[in-house]
This record gives sequence, C-alpha cells and structure tokens, in this order.
Amino acid sequence: MNSFKLLLLAVICSIAIDPVLHAQTTAIPIETKNVAIVLQTDKNNHLKIVHTGRALASATDYETAAAAYRLTSQGANLNNAAYTVAGINNNFVEPAIAVVHADGNNSLDLVYEKQRMTTTPEGATLTVVTLKDAVYPFYVDLCFKAWKNEDVIEQWTEIRHTEKGKVTLNKYASANVYLFDDRFYLTSYNGNWAKEMQPELTQLKQGMHTIESRLGTRENLIGTQNFMLAMDQPATETTGTVLMGQLAWNGNYSIQFETDTYKKMHLVAGINPWQSAYELKPGSRFETPKFIYTISFNGTGTGSRNLQRWLRNYQLLDGKGERLTLLNNWEATYFNFDQNKLVDLFKGAKDLGVDLFLLDDGWFGNKYPRNSDNAGLGDWQENKKKLPDGIPYLVNEAGKQGIKFGIWIEPEMVNPKSELYEKHLDWVLREEKRPEIYFRNQMVLDLTNPEAQDFVFGVVDNLFKKNPSLAFIKWDCNAPIFNGHSKYLEKNKLPQSHLYVEYTRGLEKVLQRIRAKYPKVPMMLCSGGGGRTDYTLLKYFTEFWLSDDTDPLERVFIQWNYSYYYPAIAMCNHVTEWGKQPLKYRVDVASMGKLGFDIKANDLKPEDKAFCQQAIKNYNGFKDIVWHGDLYRLKNPYENDMASLMFVNKERTKSVVFNYLTNWRYVGDAALDPVKLQGLDPAKKYKIKELNVYGNQKPGFDESKVYSGDYLMNIGFNPNINLRRPSVVLSVEAL
Ligand code: GLA
Repeated sequence: MNSFKLLLLAVICSIAIDPVLHAQTTAIPIETKNVAIVLQTDKNNHLKIVHTGRALASATDYETAAAAYRLTSQGANLNNAAYTVAGINNNFVEPAIAVVHADGNNSLDLVYEKQRMTTTPEGATLTVVTLKDAVYPFYVDLCFKAWKNEDVIEQWTEIRHTEKGKVTLNKYASANVYLFDDRFYLTSYNGNWAKEMQPELTQLKQGMHTIESRLGTRENLIGTQNFMLAMDQPATETTGTVLMGQLAWNGNYSIQFETDTYKKMHLVAGINPWQSAYELKPGSRFETPKFIYTISFNGTGTGSRNLQRWLRNYQLLDGKGERLTLLNNWEATYFNFDQNKLVDLFKGAKDLGVDLFLLDDGWFGNKYPRNSDNAGLGDWQENKKKLPDGIPYLVNEAGKQGIKFGIWIEPEMVNPKSELYEKHLDWVLREEKRPEIYFRNQMVLDLTNPEAQDFVFGVVDNLFKKNPSLAFIKWDCNAPIFNGHSKYLEKNKLPQSHLYVEYTRGLEKVLQRIRAKYPKVPMMLCSGGGGRTDYTLLKYFTEFWLSDDTDPLERVFIQWNYSYYYPAIAMCNHVTEWGKQPLKYRVDVASMGKLGFDIKANDLKPEDKAFCQQAIKNYNGFKDIVWHGDLYRLKNPYENDMASLMFVNKERTKSVVFNYLTNWRYVGDAALDPVKLQGLDPAKKYKIKELNVYGNQKPGFDESKVYSGDYLMNIGFNPNINLRRPSVVLSVEAL
C-alpha cells in the first residue's frame, strides 16, 4: 500500500473511532503547579510534544506553541513525537517502541485516538492518551500522572493489541521527553561496591549518550538510573532549569539522551531492551515501569525537595512516619557469634540508647552452616550451634532489655553449597550446559517461577509466624543475574527473553504479598551496599542502605549525591570503624538520615560511650526535622573544603545544620567564610546552639546572640570549621 493510501486509511480509521480527530490543534497540557508538558496533534494526526517547561498562566496559550518552532526538516519532523516509533520512514530518531506484528510486519505508525483525564484518590491528575496504529489493531496508552504541589510527573505506557497472534515487542520504553533548549548538561552516576553514586557531568552535544544496566537485578551497582539534566547552563543549588529523576525499575534500565539535528534533546527512558524481546498475546496488556521526574526552574535544591516530598508523601512506605535507631552486629562480629555473644551485645544497644538490635548475616544453615559467604544461603533455619534456642529466644532476650529485634535475610539468593540448591536446582537461574558463574559465591533464584516466589514469601512469613514481635527486616541482594536462564520459562515454552522482565515482576509480586500481610513492619532495602534504590521498590521498604562504605568522609559525598533524589528518612547511615575521622565526625555524618551503629558498643571507651549516648538523645530531639523537614544543601564539598547541609521544619522555626571539613590540607580555607543559611523566615529571630559537642569541649561561638533570618540567609553564620573542629552540628531555633 503506498503512503498516500496508508495516510487516507489512517484518517478514515481515526474518524470512525473518534470524531475528536479534527480538533487537530487541540493541545493536551499535562500540568503541575510550575511545569507543563504539552502534547498536540499535527495535520497527520501524529501526537507531538510542543512544550516542555514552565506552566503558562492561560492554558489556551499552549495552542500556538507548536508554531513557535520550525522543527519541520524533512526526515526530522517527527523528532518531537510524543512516543517515537520504529518502522515508518519519516522517523529517524531513537524509537521508544519497536514491534513485529503478528503477520511479521515490523512497521508502526501511531496516531492519536482519544484522551481522558481523571483525578486519582490521592489528588494527582491522570491523563491517558490513546494512540493506535494506523493499520493494525495495536494500541499504546500514554499515561501521565501529574502531582501538582510537588511538580512531579510519572510517565509510563500501556501497550495492547487485538491482532491474530502474538506481537513481539523489541523495544517498549516508558516514555520519551523532548526538550527545546539548545545546551544540555547531564549529571549521571558511576558506581561500584563501596563507591556508589559518583557523579559525572557531561555536556551532551551530538549523538547518543546512554545510561543503562544489564545486571538483571540490583540494577544500580555500577551506575544508577538517577540523573539530572540541566538546560542552557549547568544548574546550581539555586539557579538553572533542571530535569531530575529516575526510571523506577529494579531491573535492566536504559535512559537514552539523543541530541538531534536541531540540537534539541530527545530522551527515551524505559526497560533496557537488551536480551528482552517480549511476546505479547492478543487481548493482554504490557504496563511499562514509571519514569518519574521533576523539572525545577530554580536549580537542584528545589528539584530535590520536590522529589523528596513526593517520595515521603506518596511513594516511600510510611514516608510520613517514624523510624528506629539501631545497633547492627555485622562489623562487630561478622559471621563469628553465638547467642551468648549476641545477648551481650543487646546490653550495649540498650546502654547506647538505640531502639533496636539488628542481627546480620550468619545466623542460619545447618548442613552447610553460614560461617562465611560461601555456604548456607537459602537454608533459612537457625544454625543450631550458634543459636541453640533459636530466634524466639533472641527476640525475647532483646525484649527483656527493652529493645526491639530485627533480622537480616537475603531470600532471593542461593549458595551452591546449600540444601536449597540440592533440593530445588530447578529454582536456580543457571545455564545448565555451561559452568556456573558466581558473584560472591552465590546465584539468583528464578523469581519467574511461582514456586520460587512462594519460597521467598515463606522466608519472611515463617519468620513472622514464629516471631510475631520481630520488628525489622534487612533485605539484602548481593548478586546480579550472571546465569540468565530460567528452567521455568523453558518448561512453560516461554521465551528466555522474558526473564529479566518477569524476574522484576516476580519480586514485586512477592513484596506485594508481604505487604498485604505485614503492611507496617519496617524493612531496609539493601544490596551489597547501595545496589538497589529504585522508587518502585521503595513502595515496599521504609529505608535503604546507601553503601557498605561507611568511611564518614566518603559518606559526606555519597549522602550528598543520594540526597538529590531521596529523602533523609529513607537513608540508613551507620557509625562504624571505617575511616580516620574522630567518632564525633562519624556520628554527626550518620545523624543526617536514619541513624544506626555498627560498632563494638560494649568496648567503647567511657568518654566515647557518653558522647554517643548524648548524641542519640540529641538525635531524638531533632530527628523529626531531618526526617520530615526540607533539605537545603548549602556548601558543596566538590567545590569547597567543607560541606554544609541544613534541614528546616515546615514552620521555619527549627533547623539543624551539619558542617564538615572535607579537606585536611593546611592551606584549606573551610573556616574563612560564613555559611549562608536557607529556608528560614527572614522576619524571625533565631538563636544558634552547638550540638554534639565532644567531652568537655566548649561550643565554638557565643550561643547567646540573636540573629534575624534575613541576616542568617544573606550574611550567614560561620560554624568555624577547622582542623580541630572538623565537624559541627548547629541547632537554629526561632525565639
Ligand atoms: C552486604 C551488606 C552488608 C552485610 C553483608 C552481610 O554486603 O551490604 O551490610 O549485611 O552483606 O553478608
């Protein structure tokens, strides 16, 4: 069929389906308080993005936005399509979707069919725009959930068809975005074990830049799906236009930034199509993960507060609630403990004043005891030698000390040296014709298999059935998918290319079951450090482990970088023996989130113990501001010899300011300048006190002085950071 006939057919089909077709200039604005994404059909009924940026005062002004740009070059007039397709020859930019139809044809031409807008129970605006292939009964619903007050947009697609057989989806992105600026500066993150979230700034000038994962799970071990893209010029904390967000998917992701012929940005975000062609049966629907982002016109500070608020209000489990301080035994004992040693540690926890004791790895396995990381994973029965009276005894003993008890599990994994491996080899992801490949001596269970899902659910369920007062779970995940072959998919004659998608869905099904039965109990999302932090999993977890790197100097940087995308209430920071900084520095850094300890509490020197006890009391005094207040990053350690961050409560009456020396060189100039505070009320008067002062040292300034908010935000306050005072915590309170 020639292209004219095809076009005619498209028009006729569309008229038959929806008479709205001829409202060709109808703009569809997706709006929050400050941001608008505007879609509009062109004369061929292709849906395009005609504006991405500030919301306009009058919605009718959007109607003429398309005409403001001349993006009409032959071969490039669909670059700003709302969902770019593969297989029609007038689109040459990266497709968001590529399919092979039931009849083997691999073209796609999506035209606008209809739209509907509703308000969700939580108050977001949901816009669903249906596109249909001009020839085939193949549909894509473009979904936009706009959160007005937080300026956050969630974008995803639902793909369906009623063709005569299966359609193969070779690519199925969640969204594409088109940005109309001319210069783009991407911050993406390199990573590795103990080096998570290392930022890299790249000016994107021409061609394609991709951030992606192929690890299968614990998706952000060597990179993350978080990014920020500044427009026109690099953004600062308080200036510049910047899009910040992530693909919320615990699996292979791909975020592509294509600078096109107009030097504009075509961004495609979705599941990584690598090894993942997906067969979609007629009548079924494929829902893609959410691409979640905000756009700030006042720099990264506003952008991150938008994301943090949104997470606390709508995504993170119990985001508005409380958290528990804890003592963890991982670095205090590693695998070397028994129940007497643990009970002894409970005393240390009680003495410190934390809420909970967290028993880490090493408590399970009998035929193959878990005495190192090479055996036992999968055998979730208490090791009889170490714990003859089982977990119930420990929960009970902790209770006697007046503290809660939590436990570590890694239920998606298996050591080849385990009874689970011996009994259920078909639950293990492995290439049976090839030698097994191990990561930390372990392999991944096949969560595409409902029986393996039941097993993983059972690990948690059994713990709670036997220990109803178990108060916390640390859920670890220490291996990517190295041996990507599923016996279950093979037996059920399903393509292996479904593995990565179905693994992620299988895990989510398990977590949904856990939360249906145990909705509240706090769970930490951990993955050999910070290998897993996507927003979807945070619906099931109250907090996450940022990195095994607890060196406090490194943590200043790691926590700084995570803070662009996550609220402090979700970030687990533990005081450990890592690093050379004094105990006070370590405690101060760990207090900027969810405070925990992983030290030999019983062996602390008296003055160190007294300091920790007082610091925990102080933390209990200001934790509400850290957990639920607004974060302002005041001094960037990448640009200064110090870092400074502050949290302010909603009423702008109470604030806590953390300051750290980050350069120990004699010529460093940390102490020179005052730190300009933010987020205060200029008209209010404030007093400043120093918290967490070690031993019998004195506060480093006169605490009786009164300052106006105006003064503190424009002149600032000098915390007097220097080699002798490498970390200073300030409480700023209105009179
Ligand atoms: C991972 C976690 C650590 C600890 C160990 C236990 O590395 O990140 O915190 O739980 O596993 O094996």
